[in-house]
Amino acid sequence: MSEAVLSLERVTRTYRQGSERLHVLSGVDLVLGRGEIVALVGPSGAGKSTLLHQSGLLERPDGGEVRILGRPTAKLGDVERTRLRRETIGFVYQFHHLLADFTAEENVVLPQMLAGTARRAARVRAAELLAQVGLSERQAHRPGKLSGGEQQRV
Ligand SMILES: Nc1ncnc2c1ncn2[C@@H]1O[C@H](COP(=O)(O)OP(=O)(O)OP(=O)(O)O)[C@@H](O)[C@H]1O
Ligand SMILES: [Mg+2]
Repeated sequence: MSEAVLSLERVTRTYRQGSERLHVLSGVDLVLGRGEIVALVGPSGAGKSTLLHQSGLLERPDGGEVRILGRPTAKLGDVERTRLRRETIGFVYQFHHLLADFTAEENVVLPQMLAGTARRAARVRAAELLAQVGLSERQAHRPGKLSGGEQQRV
């Protein structure tokens, strides 16, 4: 297989609800190679979002290891996890989490600037990315003036 971009090794995650323990992930192993397209399918409540949250470094598993581009993350501090997430992981959320007061273009520029890209270069890249998803004509719209699918593409 090609280079592993994401791997999970014996990942566990338990939620505590009062005295109850809910074992959502019990030793999950998963390896995804570069360029692979994978669908995670299962009934509601099975733990799909929980798995994504551990894989995307949004939550810490109780046990096991998550590797991003081969790099182990269990022992990283919050600052390093945040940096790795910003530089290597993208999410397309079911609900959009766009900043309502910023235009489509500004919503794409902002995360690049947080990652250290200069404003001018970020604007050029934003125009390219929005064109790729057919939104060149919508760059100046705020999220409230975009359709659901347009917001998701932004
Ligand atoms: N913070 C939490 N505290 C306690 N229990 C939680 C918490 N988050 C999720 N759960 C429970 O863990 C289980 C898995 O939730 P998860 O959100 O991963 O499911 P899912 O597979 O994404 O479901 P859906 O298809 O409905 O989105 C569910 O039973 C849920 O109620
Ligand atoms: Mg879910």
